[in-house]
Amino acid sequence: MNIFVTGGAGFIGSNFVFHMLDTYPDYRIVCLDKLTYAGNLSTLAPVMNNPNFRFVKIDICDREAIYKLFEEEKPDIVVNFAAESHVDRSIENPEIFLQTNILGTQVLMDACRKYGIQRYHQVSTDEVYGDLPLDRPDLFFTEETPIHTSSPYSSSKAGADLLVMAYHRTYGLPVTISRCSNNYGPYHFPEKLIPLMIANALADKPLPVYGEGLNVRDWLYVEDHCRAIDLIIHKGRVGEVYNVGGHNEMKNIDIVKLICKELGKPESLITHVEDRKGHDMRYAIDPTKIHNELGWLPETKFADGIKKTIKWYLDNKEWWETIISGEYQNYYEKMYGNRGTI
Ligand code: NAD
Ligand code: DAU
Repeated sequence: MNIFVTGGAGFIGSNFVFHMLDTYPDYRIVCLDKLTYAGNLSTLAPVMNNPNFRFVKIDICDREAIYKLFEEEKPDIVVNFAAESHVDRSIENPEIFLQTNILGTQVLMDACRKYGIQRYHQVSTDEVYGDLPLDRPDLFFTEETPIHTSSPYSSSKAGADLLVMAYHRTYGLPVTISRCSNNYGPYHFPEKLIPLMIANALADKPLPVYGEGLNVRDWLYVEDHCRAIDLIIHKGRVGEVYNVGGHNEMKNIDIVKLICKELGKPESLITHVEDRKGHDMRYAIDPTKIHNELGWLPETKFADGIKKTIKWYLDNKEWWETIISGEYQNYYEKMYGNRGTI
């Protein structure tokens, strides 16, 4: 089996590459990544010499290069993680989100149609469902929840999902989609909540919580997400959407306080800053379908996963210190430098 993993130098994609190489010693895994600011070749260093692994620096929007690679490699399955993934950046500059997340998806699916494929899998997000109110803890996102997006990022992901389903219906492309909640774990880029708070707390820097920090996210350890995608590409039904999440709802402020506690840092580092525009209040996944059909359940409880994650960041300082010492400094200054406190 030859599997294309796009965006495999990013957070979830790299964890998926490791999972697949460990689980299927006879599979060939080809990672396609443009190496944007979020892609990091050093992340893939442990597998670079694995004879079953190949890395190709490529932009999924580059039709000619993508077709050439399909012709050469003839993949059986494509798993598309490649995306611009950060909501705050999409608010600053939506265009690249539409290009990569929608048009890049189209190029990949056109290649699948042209060269043939057993499965095209789109890695999507629970953000396509919009948000849920805080006062209705009985409500969850199911696969039937209407698409209702808030940010340019989530709109681009929803646009891609609609296109994937259109390619299935119109051209008969064998597709699946997974819509997952917030992941956390090793190799999470330090612009995102959990690694940003760990890095700042370790440096005794302010911990910028948007608004009151009452927004709720449904956290899933990244390895559990990788197992879900593995199951879907092997056993999931073509043309279906699978929600992935593990009933691990947490308020942002509680996560930041927990990180302070684990690191022995004072909560006085917490600074409430101007809220994100259009900030979604609560995400919560109903994972009944993937559980009933494919037997998937999350294995890592948040209390254990967050400890493992903090330990990983302590043990792998070089990985993230290199990242935050470069262009990230400009990003941080731009996003947080003039952000008013509340
Ligand atoms: P990430 O930002 O860490 O990684 C994205 C990767 O895609 C990077 O390696 C980057 O170089 C690559 N990339 C970007 N544009 C590209 C292009 N044009 N061509 C080729 N490669 C390109 O993102 P992540 O958090 O690992 O998310 C991966 C996927 O999972 C995304 O599609 C995201 O929407 C989805 N998702 C993420 C989460 C989460 O909590 N992080 C949850 C649900 C779904
Ligand atoms: O739900 C899945 C989505 O989760 C994925 O589709 C996205 O790719 C991924 O980035 C993530 O989106 P979020 O916007 O939920 O993640 P982020 O880590 O940016 O923010 C999590 C919460 O923390 C959110 O309510 C905003 C808040 N936050 C974030 C940052 C970076 C802060 O309060 N302060 C911060 O500095």
